[in-house]
Amino acid sequence: MTVQLPDSVDYVLLDEGTIQNRVQELATQISRDYEGIHNEDFLLVGVLKGSFIFLADLSRCLTVPHRVDFIALSSYQDKAETTGAVRLIMDTREDVTERHVLIVEDILDTGYTLQYLYRLFEARQPASLRTAVLLSKPDRHEVAVSIDYLGFSIPDVWVVGYGLDFADRFRTLPYIGALKPRVYEK
Ligand code: XMP
Ligand code: MG
Repeated sequence: MTVQLPDSVDYVLLDEGTIQNRVQELATQISRDYEGIHNEDFLLVGVLKGSFIFLADLSRCLTVPHRVDFIALSSYQDKAETTGAVRLIMDTREDVTERHVLIVEDILDTGYTLQYLYRLFEARQPASLRTAVLLSKPDRHEVAVSIDYLGFSIPDVWVVGYGLDFADRFRTLPYIGALKPRVYEK
């Protein structure tokens, strides 16, 4: 089946079926690892906005009871590159102390965002702290952060779709596509 791509999208990197299969695999693994934990104690924390579709699909594939919450961050951005500084825009509603927290993030790029989140949550003394990250760009990592559940490693291209955006566009594409370099190299 051929997919009609938006003008700015170069090619499909991960199609819908590939993503769905992998999300199901991750959910199976997570359900196994968190079996027996009380619903009140297992908290998925989605990092807004990019993770909202991944979180929705992952959450619905889990067979263990859990709660869902969100946090919103923003990275201070220079024109050309990220400074690595992260700002908290919206905190979680739930208290994470003594809960099993699973951070759900769209993509690991330089690693500064996840590093910030680890520090933020660790200070609040959760019962456990792990991360589920859909995508990772190994060529871009600047700080070492560990991921417990990783969807895919991808090359250093700007990707959109399945929650990911460029200037808040393309989030609802069902696949993950690579943006044409001319769109973001300005
Ligand atoms: P790092 O790991 O550098 O990641 O702190 C910061 C945030 O950058 C965003 N990001 C992307 N968003 N397509 C996107 O839509 C991409 O290719 C991409 N690479 C990085 C993402 O929000 C991540 O949380
Ligand atoms: Mg993000």
